Amino acid sequence: MQNTSSPKHIAIIMDGNGRWATQRGLPRSAGHKKGVNSLRDIVKFCAKKHIENLTVFAFSSENWKRPRQEVDLLMELFISALKNEVEELNKNNVVLKFIGDRHQFPEKLVNMVESSEKKTKLNTGLNLFVAANYGGRWDIINACQKIADDVKQGKLEPENISDSEMISYLSLSGYPEPDLFIRTGGEQRISNFLLWQCAYSELYFCDELWPDFNEEQLLKAIEWFEGRQRRFGLTMEQIEDK
Ligand code: IPE
Ligand code: IPE
Ligand code: MG
Repeated sequence: MQNTSSPKHIAIIMDGNGRWATQRGLPRSAGHKKGVNSLRDIVKFCAKKHIENLTVFAFSSENWKRPRQEVDLLMELFISALKNEVEELNKNNVVLKFIGDRHQFPEKLVNMVESSEKKTKLNTGLNLFVAANYGGRWDIINACQKIADDVKQGKLEPENISDSEMISYLSLSGYPEPDLFIRTGGEQRISNFLLWQCAYSELYFCDELWPDFNEEQLLKAIEWFEGRQRRFGLTMEQIEDK
């Protein structure tokens, strides 16, 4: 009954920074700052545990609608985190990649994103995907536009648009789909994260707010995952006979 394999790809919605701060009478920015520390620890832990891929939701397509002051703070925080963390990422052999529409970010951030991707490109350990200005719907629309363009140019026949062809146009193409999807902060929703790619992910929701999330809680989620039986539409008997 047990699925003994470890997740090859973990996706996390890092939620609860604002509430963490509000509970302490602090500005929401304090929660976002503390959240960077959690991310640092989780990345280090995944690298040590030889997890192959980790995707974290840092900023959604919809988060632009937050108060201007909070959006500006988040942009500054991304810039300073990139500046401060790249050396440590290199030390841990982490390859950093961004998914999402980066063109809407301030130029300084776009440059930082590009230079940090370049600096970690030759590493061979954990792939860390940061979803920034990312939305699952954006991802699918973006893929549709590219597909339509390829059809128009005669590079692709409409009848050849298959599951695997579609994946090749989406973010995270070439990497395994997330096996384990974690959302911290007590909400049980997907909030426009990886809609296509999480079709068969195991969904794990926990109440800890992201700034409180640590190795111990991640291990708990991984252990829970290892106890799941993934059936992908088959029957339990078919899986057990394999
Ligand atoms: C997640 O924490 C971080 C981002 C969305 C950038 P929130 O800021 O959503 O925290 P809560 O959900 O308001 O507590
Ligand atoms: C999802 O959290 C986005 C990130 C964690 C970056 P939100 O806090 O934006 O999601 P909702 O609004 O509660 O659905
Ligand atoms: Mg939230």
